[in-house]
Amino acid sequence: MNKQEGKHRILILGANGFLGNAIYKELCSYFKTFGTYNTSNTQLEKNNHFFQYNIEEDDVYEILDIVKPTIIISALRGDFSKQVIVHQHLAEYVFTKKIKLLFLSSANVFDAYSKYPSYETDKTYSNSIYGHFKIKIENMLLRLPKNQVAILRLPMVFGSKSPRIYEIIQHAKEKEPIEVFPNLIMNVTTDTKVTQQIHYIINRNKSGIFHLGSSDLVHHDDFFKDIIKSLKIENPIIKQVYTTNDERYLAVLPKYNLLPKNLQLISQEILTALEL
Ligand SMILES: NC(=O)c1ccc[n+]([C@@H]2O[C@H](COP(=O)([O-])OP(=O)(O)OC[C@H]3O[C@@H](n4cnc5c(N)ncnc54)[C@H](OP(=O)(O)O)[C@@H]3O)[C@@H](O)[C@H]2O)c1
Repeated sequence: MNKQEGKHRILILGANGFLGNAIYKELCSYFKTFGTYNTSNTQLEKNNHFFQYNIEEDDVYEILDIVKPTIIISALRGDFSKQVIVHQHLAEYVFTKKIKLLFLSSANVFDAYSKYPSYETDKTYSNSIYGHFKIKIENMLLRLPKNQVAILRLPMVFGSKSPRIYEIIQHAKEKEPIEVFPNLIMNVTTDTKVTQQIHYIINRNKSGIFHLGSSDLVHHDDFFKDIIKSLKIENPIIKQVYTTNDERYLAVLPKYNLLPKNLQLISQEILTALEL
């Protein structure tokens, strides 16, 4: 552990989820890393780096007072209005203590723009409840001093242990249809790449808005069919779902806040990783 890395105390909210847990595993050898979980878990109860925390019942300040983080990573799910309140508390804490917050946002902050992919400086615009809620938190955090916030906008995240891949395998096993959206053009990423990108953002003390999607775009249906092929699933039942007549983009492309080449990815890397 070098001096720069050892100095941080990191609190991951949602550290037992798909992304939170991957981030915890990436960071815990380098930083004093702590996390929260919601669903009762006997293993985690015994781990003094983990705290049970429910956004509906518990006060986040109690955990902040114990951990005294220098970096907070928000990887939560749960009731939207409660999450907004939690992030209000986090923003106050971050501002007062002059620490940093990394917020996992989503490509859905642009889901009302359908004709183009989106870049970091584009104005957010959503017509979904999920997108609206992410925009609300983003706007709150963007009022903090710029060097204290990183907003990480993610497209669909895949990985061998991701719920999306698990769902494809489950549906295939149960001979249920796997839904694909032929008109949806998107970019994609993996949990492995996202965690490496977060590690870099912490090490280099980067801030601002990051678009952490692949540099290429894929059609949802083609990409899902490629995943099915990579997983060697035979005779899947595929259901084509058309939500609009026109092609629709849901893609967060990086342009201004670029990460080094080795931290960027193309969609093929996801398929190659699934084949291993
Ligand atoms: N996965 C993606 O493709 C994707 C794409 C774009 C953005 N994101 C964003 O990334 C973040 C993490 O997503 P994820 O896919 O890793 O989600 P996830 O696997 O569902 O994990 C969510 C975490 O939040 C915790 N949680 C759920 N309800 C809670 C509550 N009421 N109180 C306190 N904690 C609660 C869960 O705890 P337990 O597990 O202990 O119950 C878990 O640790 C989210 O903010 C999501 O919007 C994800």
